[in-house]
Amino acid sequence: MADKFFIFCIFAAFALSLSPFVFSRELSLDTDSHSSVLDVSGSIRKTLDVLSLKSSVSKPSDQGDEKTTSFSPSSLASSFSLELHPRELLHGGSHKDYRALMLSRLARDSARVKAINTKLQFAVTGTDKSDLVPMDTEMLHPQDFSTPVTSGTSQGSGEYFLRVGIGRPSKMFYMVIDTGSDVNWLQCKPCDDCYQQVDPIFDPAASSSFSRLGCQTPQCRNLDAFACRNDSCLYQVSYGDGSYTVGDFATETVSFGNSGSVDNVAIGCGHDNEGLFVGAAGLIGLGGGPLSLTSQIKASSFSYCLVNRDSVDSSTLEFNSARPSDAVTAPIFKNSKVDTFYYVGITGMSVGGEKLAIPPSIFEVDGSGKGGIIVDCGTAVTRLQTQAYNALRDTFVNLTKDLPSTSGFALFDTCYNLSSRTSVRVPTVAFLFDGGKSLALPPSNYLIPVDSAGTFCLAFAPTTASLSIIGNVQQQGTRVTYDLANSQVSFSSHKC
Ligand SMILES: *[C@@H]1O[C@H](CO)[C@@H](O)[C@H](O)[C@H]1NC(C)=O
Ligand SMILES: *[C@@H]1O[C@H](CO)[C@@H](O)[C@H](O)[C@H]1NC(C)=O
Ligand SMILES: *[C@@H]1O[C@H](CO)[C@@H](O)[C@H](O)[C@H]1NC(C)=O
Repeated sequence: MADKFFIFCIFAAFALSLSPFVFSRELSLDTDSHSSVLDVSGSIRKTLDVLSLKSSVSKPSDQGDEKTTSFSPSSLASSFSLELHPRELLHGGSHKDYRALMLSRLARDSARVKAINTKLQFAVTGTDKSDLVPMDTEMLHPQDFSTPVTSGTSQGSGEYFLRVGIGRPSKMFYMVIDTGSDVNWLQCKPCDDCYQQVDPIFDPAASSSFSRLGCQTPQCRNLDAFACRNDSCLYQVSYGDGSYTVGDFATETVSFGNSGSVDNVAIGCGHDNEGLFVGAAGLIGLGGGPLSLTSQIKASSFSYCLVNRDSVDSSTLEFNSARPSDAVTAPIFKNSKVDTFYYVGITGMSVGGEKLAIPPSIFEVDGSGKGGIIVDCGTAVTRLQTQAYNALRDTFVNLTKDLPSTSGFALFDTCYNLSSRTSVRVPTVAFLFDGGKSLALPPSNYLIPVDSAGTFCLAFAPTTASLSIIGNVQQQGTRVTYDLANSQVSFSSHKC
């Protein structure tokens, strides 16, 4: 046995050392540690397909939408899976061309990153919650809460959504998923202000399981921004771009298709909702704080696979299922100042097989709660501190001198005119994790089309904030498993 293993190792080492010469023809690998092949024409085709998408979910296909789940209270399968759709399925056909679609995505993304940084800033500066909160107010206005309000042109930060049932009898709703926040909420009758959504607005009066939370409940006290009216808890969640949701904080039954339901899930019943999430009814928080759905249902793990945002495919959000065996694993940890975000242990990055000269401290959380890098499904483009971004960009540019460059686009400063190519070989970009594993990204996860004419940009962006974020463009096509019980995150390519 030991002998065989030894011989195998020798053979493997021998084969590896020869591989560039012996196997290069036969293997023609799409991705190795140095370079990867980007399917240019395939990416361009998707930009055209996504524009011709009709809002195909406006007539929900799920039969039994109105069906009450036959499960007894709070009975949930030990592991279960829900279908996950990219945003454009709700919005299909609303943009005149792909360039306009990208500009709107990127504007939304900047608002998203700003909201995350605002939340973090409140946490690290230690603003006392009670300072933020007007108690016993008769009427709540968003300006009563502390989050800065700026121009609200954003159309929502949600990028992927699923379908869950709320109430008894259960009604089905499209809900955005978000690992960067905790509070679940949906638009609720009566509406002071509700944006347009695909499903009818939730009516708490028609649900026997709806129950308002009192002001002294732990759920109410766990909110970042709450207020108390007539001993009933009011919540507010604000996003950095002036959009917000305000309403009653309540408990409801949440059901997951045939997998069962959970009673008494704390969820915001939003009567005043401005700006965000056009199409979806609300949001399911998957963050690490006590109010997230994952915490409330005591999930030991969850995972998602984000299909390419320009595709019509769907994939799944899974709870409590085992991670794929080929997964690349890294530690996750919490910032002592804020428990929402999933920080990942990263030692560096490489481009074209070269480790970038980035001080590892850039990816570490410091004593004051600043710095570090989180994994987030709601942010699109990975943000890196300027020094790290510059190292990545400069090396990438050095290794792509053969590609025709073109001017920048929105927050991207490194773009190429690939209109005359069907495919190109580009340097591989990889994250290097604590524990020595590395995650090589598929090229379509970092060189993305910004129009349908062949302009592709390096899809990373610098940030002047201390926090770095691994965004969903870099996670496309990858099953990302948050193993909460073991504090690990793992990435498994081609597992959608
Ligand atoms: C406050 O609660 C009391 C008793 O439950 C109720 O009669 C009253 O209408 C409530 N007031 C408001 C403003 O909701
Ligand atoms: C890029 O190439 C130039 C010239 O070959 C070299 O001086 C520079 O160090 C390179 N920069 C990076 C980040 O690789
Ligand atoms: C891209 O290159 C093609 C020729 O290969 C040219 O016709 C086209 O104008 C270029 N596009 C841009 C935006 O520069």
